[in-house]
Amino acid sequence: MKHRNFNGADVSEVGLGCWQIGGDQWGDVAETDALGVLRASVEAGVTFLDTADVYGAGRSEELIGRFLKDYKRADFFIASKFGRFPRPGWPGNFDPKMIREHTENSLKRLGIERLDLTQLHCLPLEQLKRAEVWDTVRALKQEGKIRRFGASVESTAEAEECLKHADCASLQIIFNIFRQTPETSGLLDRCAKAGVAIIVRLPLASGLLAGKYTPTTTFAPEDHRTNNRNGERFNVGETFAGLGFETGLAMVEKLKPLVPTGYTLPQLALRWCLDHEAVTTIIPGARNRGQALNNSAASDLPPLPADVLARVREFFLKDVKSAVRGPD
Ligand SMILES: NC(=O)c1ccc[n+]([C@@H]2O[C@H](COP(=O)([O-])OP(=O)(O)OC[C@H]3O[C@@H](n4cnc5c(N)ncnc54)[C@H](OP(=O)(O)O)[C@@H]3O)[C@@H](O)[C@H]2O)c1
Repeated sequence: MKHRNFNGADVSEVGLGCWQIGGDQWGDVAETDALGVLRASVEAGVTFLDTADVYGAGRSEELIGRFLKDYKRADFFIASKFGRFPRPGWPGNFDPKMIREHTENSLKRLGIERLDLTQLHCLPLEQLKRAEVWDTVRALKQEGKIRRFGASVESTAEAEECLKHADCASLQIIFNIFRQTPETSGLLDRCAKAGVAIIVRLPLASGLLAGKYTPTTTFAPEDHRTNNRNGERFNVGETFAGLGFETGLAMVEKLKPLVPTGYTLPQLALRWCLDHEAVTTIIPGARNRGQALNNSAASDLPPLPADVLARVREFFLKDVKSAVRGPD
């Protein structure tokens, strides 16, 4: 597993997205599977864990907390998020008192004294513009409850708002073969120049880029890939990268001929993200041990040839870009 510099910390370039182990919006992920995913990832060299207070209303953080008891705290970079917990919900979650309380609750569930990173969890643009929100995370940093703060964002406009704060350590963005705008818009370059770490979520477009789904594939009723296909519950971009299931499947078929010899489609998808120098870590989600091991192994693959990168770019601009829905 190779490592990259995250605002002064050393992190695995493949991390683990821990939304799945919350269970609630991914169907039922059994506790043994959740702990198996964590163990497999760590055995494969993953040190970066991304979670949020809202994932399973605390379950994801609790499981990580239990898991970490067997390990040395200093060997991990723990990133969580606040702003979307169900109680009290919006807009109460953005009150300084609640930001503090939610952060302290995350620490308790995780069983740690300090987060390596807390992230504003896709706060609406008008909240990102409120100095009070940023001043609150600054105070938490001064008090030693967090080491640094950053933001998970849905759009370039939100990212730009966060970059106005020189002490914003990181941005978490949707970036994959189907969502290349962060690069084409110059956002990645601006972050690299400013020393802002980039965390890539949805590197597999919610599993589409694993290439195994067919038109008859179904997901559990509570899975967001059933109930948020058209953005019914939250940002449409978080589900299948905003393409919708049927369009996404058609795009996957067009992409398959571009997979180079020696790679599988998910390997191409993950390697494509890692081949961007501005990317600090990618956080694929996994629902079982095998997926976690396959995803971690992307770090050991050689970089993609330049002609493959060029053809993937052309494919995005010609076939995909206009079909992407949601903020970009
Ligand atoms: N707003 C935010 O801040 C936000 C939003 C979304 C996600 N995130 C973070 O980003 C992480 C990653 O995003 P994501 O999980 O939504 O999308 P993703 O990583 O693109 O997709 C994960 C899904 O792809 C499938 N998969 C994963 N590895 C596979 C493999 N090796 N082979 C075949 N299938 C595989 C699994 O689904 P199946 O087994 O069902 O096929 C898995 O649940 C989350 O866990 C979370 O930490 C943050």
